[in-house]
Amino acid sequence: MMLELSSVCSGYGRVRIINDVSLTVSPGEIVAVIGRNGVGKTTLMKTIIGEVQTHSGTVTFRKQDVTALPTSARAKLGIGYVPQGRGIFSRLTVGANLALGTGVGTASQPNLERAFEFFPILKKRLRQPAGSMSGGEQQQLAIGRILVGEPDIMLLDEPSEGIQPSIVQEIGRTVRLLSRQQGLTVVIVEQNLSLIQAVADRCVVIDNGAVIATLAPDELDDPETAKTYLAI
Ligand SMILES: Nc1ncnc2c1ncn2[C@@H]1O[C@H](COP(=O)(O)OP(=O)(O)O)[C@@H](O)[C@H]1O
Ligand SMILES: [Mg+2]
Repeated sequence: MMLELSSVCSGYGRVRIINDVSLTVSPGEIVAVIGRNGVGKTTLMKTIIGEVQTHSGTVTFRKQDVTALPTSARAKLGIGYVPQGRGIFSRLTVGANLALGTGVGTASQPNLERAFEFFPILKKRLRQPAGSMSGGEQQQLAIGRILVGEPDIMLLDEPSEGIQPSIVQEIGRTVRLLSRQQGLTVVIVEQNLSLIQAVADRCVVIDNGAVIATLAPDELDDPETAKTYLAI
């Protein structure tokens, strides 16, 4: 198993948000985490990277219990996180954003070419301020910045948010390519039905901090199901 959460409870201070979540992700799999706004999807991602404290249960990454490890150590082990809202430094250049890195992986020489291979636009815009790019380009930068560290798993938190549909589809194609070609494992939090269906092998539905269902992506073809589980 690439990633395994076992009876995880977590939250902010004493406030519990994630309640008894168990979840496994296999190598190379693309798992979508879906659910309405405020149900705990981002908190779940932050629990996996260690930014939100686990109250009980365990997070296991490639057979290693990482529950007690700080965020930086989990990143070094190969857990990459592209935050909701992207976390780009808009006044710095694209190159500076890539060079700053994210502490993912252990490569001494960050693999910039890897980011350029999947997102050629970043090479073209290397010297421009990141804030001068479109939302979609900034999302590509946010993902590219994680790829330079060569993670084993990439957690993507609502990459389609505020992005034009054509770029959403492009990001979807790239995520699939990364999975098929490089064996990258992906957990993607999404509300965008077409992106979910373009990339996901399986959908895990979160409500009120707990896993309430697992769906095949095509089950979201049913409008009632989609309406129940997505904010549409
Ligand atoms: N930093 C924080 N401190 C306290 N509560 C938070 C914090 N961030 C989020 N929450 C609360 O946790 C719950 C889940 O939020 P979140 O994980 O962001 O949901 P989602 O990503 O599914 O929209 C919400 O009730 C939210 O108000
Ligand atoms: Mg969120």
